[in-house]
Amino acid sequence: MIGSATGVAIGITGLGSNVPETVMTNDDLARLIDTSDEWIRERTGIRERRIATRDEALSDIALPAARQALAEAGAQPSEIDLVICATVTPDMLFPTAAALMADTLELRNAAAYDLAAGCTGFMYAITQAYGMLASGLSKKTLVIGADVLSKTLDWEDRSTVVLFGDGAGAVVMEPVSTGGFLGFELGADGGGGVHLSYPGSGSRYFDGSKPSLEMNGREVFKFATRVMVSSATAVLEQCGKTIADVDCYVPHQANKRIIDYAVEKLGISPERTVVNVDRFGNTSSGSIPLALVDARAEGRLTEGALVLMTGMGAGLTWGSALLQWGGKAQLGNAIGLPAAVVA
Ligand code: ACO
Repeated sequence: MIGSATGVAIGITGLGSNVPETVMTNDDLARLIDTSDEWIRERTGIRERRIATRDEALSDIALPAARQALAEAGAQPSEIDLVICATVTPDMLFPTAAALMADTLELRNAAAYDLAAGCTGFMYAITQAYGMLASGLSKKTLVIGADVLSKTLDWEDRSTVVLFGDGAGAVVMEPVSTGGFLGFELGADGGGGVHLSYPGSGSRYFDGSKPSLEMNGREVFKFATRVMVSSATAVLEQCGKTIADVDCYVPHQANKRIIDYAVEKLGISPERTVVNVDRFGNTSSGSIPLALVDARAEGRLTEGALVLMTGMGAGLTWGSALLQWGGKAQLGNAIGLPAAVVA
């Protein structure tokens, strides 16, 4: 699926993130399994990751991110009419994490649902939110991207536990005065899904002891390097832009080697690329919004900056979006001021 924005400009007016407090370093992992800090840093670029405690569920980690995004957008609870939570690790399959969080946040006018697209979840969710907002069905949407993949892992499998971490990000999306999203490209290849799966997590009979995430690392690596380039190229072409126009590249944070490959093939400078996989590992649907928060903290998200985001993950799935950062909320802020008056 590919398309460029038409009609009313839709942008991001609030952004937030949150990670669990518990830090797990590579040396901590080396005390649990047969691995080393050197191997993990060389093959993945990861130094440490955050891990949820036994009692921390998805919504516990995601709620602070959602609150930040709502506060920043100046959104009153009654104004949010849609909540999409991109995740493959909800608190439970139902009630959905989105519905639970909408209740806690007192978003009484909101439809709420979870969306599963592996690590590409956030890209799928912002695309869907865009569609809802552009059509006028939604006026103000809260999109959450969050995962606690640590709970899906076999902690004796050294090929997966070194890669993943837990984390959450959230954005408020709504009509804006200028800029906003320029286009999207999404795709899926269920035929390749076998390379990254969680057998036993659904209704398919599973003949095993305890379900856990299974991955063919080499196949996922080949897939990832291919789609990180093809998807980004496709959305740029669709929007009549080139990589030279991009001010800030926000790739999914799975592995530094995958990011380095994409940076080289796309021909974008490392200085314009956001990397935080060293601190968080692969946080799945949390990855891109966490990187957006870091990009902003580093002063990269200036008014009008062209931001290219590309995600990929289980499904197999991939997705890109092109966004012109900034613009004021078109409908005014929470107390009803017109856009021109909102600082
Ligand atoms: N510590 C030490 N040694 C290890 C570890 C470890 N944690 N894991 C594997 N090894 C060993 C292997 O056993 C192998 O040993 P051998 O040569 O004696 O057989 C050796 O290291 C090399 O293993 P490879 O699998 O070939 O290592 P590779 O360089 O391919 O790196 C990795 C593995 C990091 C998993 C890489 O393939 C990768 O990043 N793949 C993509 C994974 C990914 O991004 N997944 C997430 C997708 S997004 C989502 O939706 C979840």
